[in-house]
Amino acid sequence: MRYVVSEDNELSRKLADHLECRLIVPEVRIFSDGEQKITLPKLRKNSKIVVIQYAYPETNSRIMRSLMIISRLKEITDDITLAIPYMPYARQDKEFLKGEIITSKAISKLYNRFELKILTVDIHSKLVLKFFKNIEDISAVNVIGDYCSKIRLNNPVVVSPDMFWKKQASILARYIHADSFALNKFRDRKTGKLKILSSKTLPIKGRDIILCDDMISTGKSMILAAKFCKKNKSGKIIAICTHGLFIKDAKKKIKESGISKIIYTNTSNEKDYSIDISKTIAERLV
Ligand code: R5P
Repeated sequence: MRYVVSEDNELSRKLADHLECRLIVPEVRIFSDGEQKITLPKLRKNSKIVVIQYAYPETNSRIMRSLMIISRLKEITDDITLAIPYMPYARQDKEFLKGEIITSKAISKLYNRFELKILTVDIHSKLVLKFFKNIEDISAVNVIGDYCSKIRLNNPVVVSPDMFWKKQASILARYIHADSFALNKFRDRKTGKLKILSSKTLPIKGRDIILCDDMISTGKSMILAAKFCKKNKSGKIIAICTHGLFIKDAKKKIKESGISKIIYTNTSNEKDYSIDISKTIAERLV
């Protein structure tokens, strides 16, 4: 017997369909002090269980919820896979400034004690993978590539707003037979301010741009990169990422910056996504 245990959302319904198993939706009640009461129905012992957990928005309470659900499920089975499509805290992969806690490592310790298999998509830093005992990082590049190959673009160039996503941008570029470049984005670790250090002119005059990153959070990285491309007289610009978080009015600001289209997958609970990642995840769960 196999179950998908998850909050009721489109991704979990699609995954339950792909895997041909029952979707079990825990009943969650949040008390006024923020504590959570979670109720699960009786499930058959030794079942194969896939827990799907969105980790954005309400990151911390969702992490806590998944830990509580897993701790209960461990009482009936050892065959648990946690699919956490957007891995939170993965940007803090080291102690950048003295005294900073490596939060990704702390999170990994919480999950590691349950001896689970974890599945995630396009984790921000591959360094974080080594903190987990059993984790697989799936790439969304194929589904993103399929999507991009269907858009009409003029002599496109894939541009990564920073060095971090350079390799993935080049893989996407190869997929759609385009060139790729990575900008040299610098983040002041104290103030959080961003700037692009590259001063050289990019050969992108008149060419359409696919700005490609792992995630859009505030949108500042995409907006900065778009300004740089426009300064270099590019054609139209679209922004594409795996994880669309869109803090506050990020989408509005991105559109106002002249980016004509924002494309992202359903790894977070954000509506209006263009690319469905469920089949890619399901293929790793069979
Ligand atoms: C950072 O290194 C990441 O790859 C993203 O570029 C960044 O986290 C996006 O954040 P924001 O949208 O706030 O600039």
